[in-house]
Amino acid sequence: MYTLNRNALINLLIIKSNFMSWSILMNSILTVHSKCRVGFYPRSNLKRFPVPDDKVDWSTEYKQYNPPNYTFPGLHGKPYADPEIGDPNFEPLWNSIDGNISRVSYNGPYQIVNGFPLNPLGRTGICGRGVLGRWGPNHAADPIISRWKRLDNGNMAVGVNNKPILQFIAIKRGDTGEWAIPGGMVDPGEKVSETAIREFKEEALNSLSLADKIQWEKEIDEFFSEGEVIYQGYVDDCRNTDNSWIETIAYNFHDESGLTVGLLKLHAGDDAVGVRWVDITPDLKLYASHTEIVSSVLKLRIKN
Ligand code: BGC
Repeated sequence: MYTLNRNALINLLIIKSNFMSWSILMNSILTVHSKCRVGFYPRSNLKRFPVPDDKVDWSTEYKQYNPPNYTFPGLHGKPYADPEIGDPNFEPLWNSIDGNISRVSYNGPYQIVNGFPLNPLGRTGICGRGVLGRWGPNHAADPIISRWKRLDNGNMAVGVNNKPILQFIAIKRGDTGEWAIPGGMVDPGEKVSETAIREFKEEALNSLSLADKIQWEKEIDEFFSEGEVIYQGYVDDCRNTDNSWIETIAYNFHDESGLTVGLLKLHAGDDAVGVRWVDITPDLKLYASHTEIVSSVLKLRIKN
């Protein structure tokens, strides 16, 4: 039986990539999910079945539990989407690398009940695949690009207790309107670290002119050759269901001197563009589990 202790242990595993040099700050950011347990499910008129905190864990009996079943009809036949469970041509290798798709959870082995994978964090109040492409884990990658906030004269700005202020590049999401890390979903066969860089270029650099983009391309590739894995595991995303959920690896790429990516002018505060440097402050509110992920960068960079 899956337990949260196992979750925390797996999160402490150190992974190495021969592509980048990683040092890892692993943490068990989530012990229980909450954003994927409330209100209406996205792109549907279905309300989640109520799941009180003490009934989230699958090992706790919840006899009345009767969640609605939903799979977004638009997923049918999409190249990034699995077929239906029960389709004789669909023989997924759960908890394994299945061709060029990883069905492995960073949170450890998940259970399969009646042919359906079970969300490792517990009940969500809705079953089916929802709007997610894959049954079981759907893998994402999140790049956190950070720099120290500086004054116009180049000196570091300081905040509470005379501490320097860390900033990161955030995008405004089109779906929920919330500020978020410019991440995205891993394509089949793609390395997660490559997804993080591709998504950053696609989402955050779109605000640059073509000339600037070309000028920045080389600079950025060099900058991205070093990064640190800051989190890997489950994300408390409003699209999660009992049978499909999102997991991510978040990488921190930090510009200590502020002389490379830190110089990027991202039209600060321009909501129409939806990309900007954001101060990491205690009251920061971001999409899904992004607040917790970004806060771990702060812990890593600002020592007491
Ligand atoms: C986003 C990632 C995020 C993931 C889980 C993806 O759609 O692009 O930034 O971590 O969802 O919320």
